[in-house]
Amino acid sequence: MTTATPTATVPQLNLPGQAAAPAGRADTFMMYLMHHGYRRDLDDFVACVPLTPVADRATWRALAARWTAFADALHHHHTAEDEHLWPALHAHSTDDEAAVLDAMEAEHSEIDPLLARCASGFQQMVDAGDDSVRGDLATTLIAATESLARHLGHEESEAMTLVQKYFDHDGWSALEKKFGADMKPTDLFWMIPWLLKGLSSADRADVMGRVPAPMRLIGRIAEPFFRRTERRAFFYDARPQAA
Ligand SMILES: [Fe+2]
Repeated sequence: MTTATPTATVPQLNLPGQAAAPAGRADTFMMYLMHHGYRRDLDDFVACVPLTPVADRATWRALAARWTAFADALHHHHTAEDEHLWPALHAHSTDDEAAVLDAMEAEHSEIDPLLARCASGFQQMVDAGDDSVRGDLATTLIAATESLARHLGHEESEAMTLVQKYFDHDGWSALEKKFGADMKPTDLFWMIPWLLKGLSSADRADVMGRVPAPMRLIGRIAEPFFRRTERRAFFYDARPQAA
């Protein structure tokens, strides 16, 4: 947590779709990078589900597996916030600030049922989906996208302001270690290319300048396979693809 010694503010990462990047001493780029990934993934599912033919079971299996990877990553992120970040901030917060933190946890709970309905919809499409199931899934995905967008915007503008008020560089680094404590090294071969997907070249260069060399190396090794599996799942994406 915060120390008595003030240190310089750091330039904050600000990615497309991000609601805010409050100034402060903690470099919270990984939080914003994760949020970018969740927003981007939901946009990708919303774009592809209505265009994926009902009878193409192989693509539905790839999409369902990809949904599981997305939902697991988001669940891990929200659980880490609920178990580590909000309690750490609660220890210092005023009543008004505590209300923001309580809202964060409540919003996590509102999103979970929508994610569960999406998971069920993908599984039904794998098993024996039809136009009606696909239509319901597309509608639920839009609801999940809107719910998550509201929550992430609230978190970025208000909760991250509290992070910058109460955390310094070292305190935030220690908290990030708790976030990643249960990750296996092999998880990085999916997570790093997932984090980099869809970034502009300027944002990618910014991110690469903030991560340690081993992460850059894993990204280079893992990206070709990741991109192939992404193309398989989002096979019917009709939007122009980035190079
Ligand atoms: Fe977050």
